[in-house]
Amino acid sequence: MATPSIAEPGAATVPHEAVRAPAVGAARKQAASSALSLLPAFIDRLRWGRLDAAAELIDQMSAALEASHPAIAARIRRQRTLQATPISMPKDVVDLEEPTRKFDDVVMPANIEKAVMDIVDEHRHADELAKFHLKPRHRVLLDGPPGNGKTMLAEAFACELGVPLLRANYAGLLDSHLGESGKNLSKLFQYAGNGPCVLFLDELDGIAASRDSSDVGEMRRITNQLLILIDRTPAHCVLVCATNLPGTIDKALMRRFDFRLHLPAPDRERIQRCARKELAPSLTPGHDISILADTLASRPFPNLASVSDRCCEIRRDLVLNRGRAVTEIASRDPD
Ligand SMILES: Nc1ncnc2c1ncn2[C@@H]1O[C@H](COP(=O)(O)OP(=O)(O)OP(=O)(O)O)[C@@H](O)[C@H]1O
Ligand SMILES: [Mg+2]
Repeated sequence: MATPSIAEPGAATVPHEAVRAPAVGAARKQAASSALSLLPAFIDRLRWGRLDAAAELIDQMSAALEASHPAIAARIRRQRTLQATPISMPKDVVDLEEPTRKFDDVVMPANIEKAVMDIVDEHRHADELAKFHLKPRHRVLLDGPPGNGKTMLAEAFACELGVPLLRANYAGLLDSHLGESGKNLSKLFQYAGNGPCVLFLDELDGIAASRDSSDVGEMRRITNQLLILIDRTPAHCVLVCATNLPGTIDKALMRRFDFRLHLPAPDRERIQRCARKELAPSLTPGHDISILADTLASRPFPNLASVSDRCCEIRRDLVLNRGRAVTEIASRDPD
């Protein structure tokens, strides 16, 4: 059969296949690369036993391949209905989150900024360290007064490392039945050991009080258990703990941390940086009110959470009231 051809008036005759082949090849490549780009997230979701979330990616992969690789798309779709063996996620004791906030979003003193970059750097170069029988340091204690970014920084560690954030859920973890809390803690650490992650124990003072001061036997046992579990935590799991009350934490436990990072109450410069971020033109389309950051920086804000709240108030006024009261709101003393 003669090869169909495209004949333009006055143009040389071009075989049809010659035109189509590169275009088809490019489309197939594009489809394959879209599907492949989902693979790391897919593996990650399977690793953490998040089967529903993994199934969503199966749908996306098969949709990407439908036109160019229909047979593979169909095979992938069939997998969706298969029951994989779940790595059981102890949902009662842990919340798994996909972090979005980065170091850039957290306003920190310069020395803390350097320390957090160093920690991430060690983890990014874990293979090189291993050649010299070294492991990245991975146990971090964040302390400081409320509302200055401890929780935010834990999330940012996970985001920068590209790993999930596993947040201990104390409501499910602490059990009134003797011995159950210790078992729950073990479940949590065992799950976290599955792969690279940030395990976040917020309000550490609540579960790791000094054994000298605690007269509740069960609390002492939990602290003991925690010591053992922290010692066994593999280096690929970055343990981030946070507290407002470092003085009440068990001394032996304090020694376990590779880094102790203090997030202090903000000075003028950090209030200003925080306000500039919160009032950035990208958050206030069509307006540049970042100049108000200077006004805010002259007020004695006790923490950056209240700076952030004040900035939201300013932005609300901008949306609802055309910004008529923004200067007054920015100059008001903190509550
Ligand atoms: N360092 C910071 N940089 C930018 N925003 C901050 C910072 N600290 C606090 N904020 C704002 O305040 C909110 C609350 O902060 P966060 O929960 O991280 O504080 P915290 O130190 O964990 O407080 P707590 O001790 O009460 O748990 C954040 O979501 C953010 O909007
Ligand atoms: Mg917090």
